[in-house]
Amino acid sequence: MEPFRFHVFVCTQQKPEGVTSCPAQGSFGVLDKLDRELQSRSLINDVQLTTCGCLGLCDEGPVMVVYPEGVWYRRVQPSDVAEIVDTHLRGGAPVARLVWNDAAAMKAMSVEHGEKFRASMAARDKAGTLPDRLDQMIRSFQPSRCILTALELDLFTAVGDGASAEEIGSEIHANARAVAMLLNALISIALLTKEGNRYRNTAESARFFVQGAKDNQRNGLLHTANIWHRWSTLTEAVRRGTCVPIERDQTEWTGNFIAGMQRNAKARAPLVVKSLGTAGIRRILDLGGGSGAYSIAFAQAEPNLHCEILDLPEVVPLTSEYVEKAGVSHQIALRPGDMLRDNFGSGYDLIMLNAICHMFSEEQNCELFRRARKALAPRGRLAVQDFILNDEKTGPQHAALFSLNMLVGTQAGASYSEAEYTAWMKAAGFSKVSRINLPGPSDLIVGRVE
Ligand SMILES: C[S@@+](CC[C@H](N)C(=O)[O-])C[C@H]1O[C@@H](n2cnc3c(N)ncnc32)[C@H](O)[C@@H]1O
Ligand code: FES
Repeated sequence: MEPFRFHVFVCTQQKPEGVTSCPAQGSFGVLDKLDRELQSRSLINDVQLTTCGCLGLCDEGPVMVVYPEGVWYRRVQPSDVAEIVDTHLRGGAPVARLVWNDAAAMKAMSVEHGEKFRASMAARDKAGTLPDRLDQMIRSFQPSRCILTALELDLFTAVGDGASAEEIGSEIHANARAVAMLLNALISIALLTKEGNRYRNTAESARFFVQGAKDNQRNGLLHTANIWHRWSTLTEAVRRGTCVPIERDQTEWTGNFIAGMQRNAKARAPLVVKSLGTAGIRRILDLGGGSGAYSIAFAQAEPNLHCEILDLPEVVPLTSEYVEKAGVSHQIALRPGDMLRDNFGSGYDLIMLNAICHMFSEEQNCELFRRARKALAPRGRLAVQDFILNDEKTGPQHAALFSLNMLVGTQAGASYSEAEYTAWMKAAGFSKVSRINLPGPSDLIVGRVE
């Protein structure tokens, strides 16, 4: 049984640098072109495109196989894709010049590859070599650091439509030799290209990292660069059991932080509005609302709804800019203050704690929940959105790693489990507590007042 007319497998098995593989011979380019050609010919729902691991024919890569017939293509290049789509996936006739149908030779190559692979794995194991997976994980800070340094230096903007290392170095006030090294490293991780002595942005870097580009995310990503500095104190933070103070420019840090929050919240806010609904909600208190993305999404979904955002005095002017830009200032009031100390008021139908509880200790969260419970109207809800750990606190990975993000960034914050949130809400007097799973890394825990 084939639910699709064709099922195409493209080998994308990554191998260590220098080892022959389909990706090293361009299989990701083939995959990308296939996806675009299938879309443009309206075949995307008839042809299932699947990436796969090594097929044992690496020397003849990129390799792809088309089922149900089981047609094997070798040495496929992006320039061949339009012909394969037209002739084979639309017309039903395989492209003969690229088909490999010498079954005996294919099997021999695959068997030889398998034997060599198993022998090399056994030799590495015997020699006590660090597995590639571990080695890669340990070094993975290097590409990350290259990108963050490039963002800090605003290098992608300086590359613009094309520039030499000297021109870029002079634009960003940095050493030309070192800049050339960084530019070349960025080429190696596919974020720049080079023609002659001129460096160019890729479509991705031009879209997301260049000032003035519509989808530029540099400001929000600079928050990740700030976090990187904090993570470099992790060893000491683990010894101390709390964050290690680091020097920072507070104004710049806050601006990047809120831009970073907006980057995440903009996409998630409509999901939260959809999950919680607006029925029965007239007044919302958004504690630590940051860029205001969640209140803005609720206000836009329901014109009769009013929100109050309580955030720190240095953040509220930034919140105000986002709220004004969204055109919902008449529905959203801003309150500079401290949620751990200030009176919340009363009569709210919904109180939101989006990405807040991880900043605080168990005791602080219990107290917040207790005060929120008192500030809610009958049948009101408290909605906590966060990265929720499993009961053993060993995963999901994002939540477990984020807990350390809070160790290096806060006095007593951490990621918490569903069981913990539920217990705290029950202790605060919420009669019904439930979890709503959202797409992506964070979920909602919702407590209701009867
Ligand atoms: C991780 S951000 C989350 C922002 C927003 N809720 C979102 O999900 O995009 C935490 C927010 O809480 C605010 N905040 C931290 N401590 C606070 C406090 N004691 N009182 C009020 N706001 C606080 C920060 O300024 C920041 O806007
Ligand atoms: S890496 Fe593609 S066939 Fe081996």
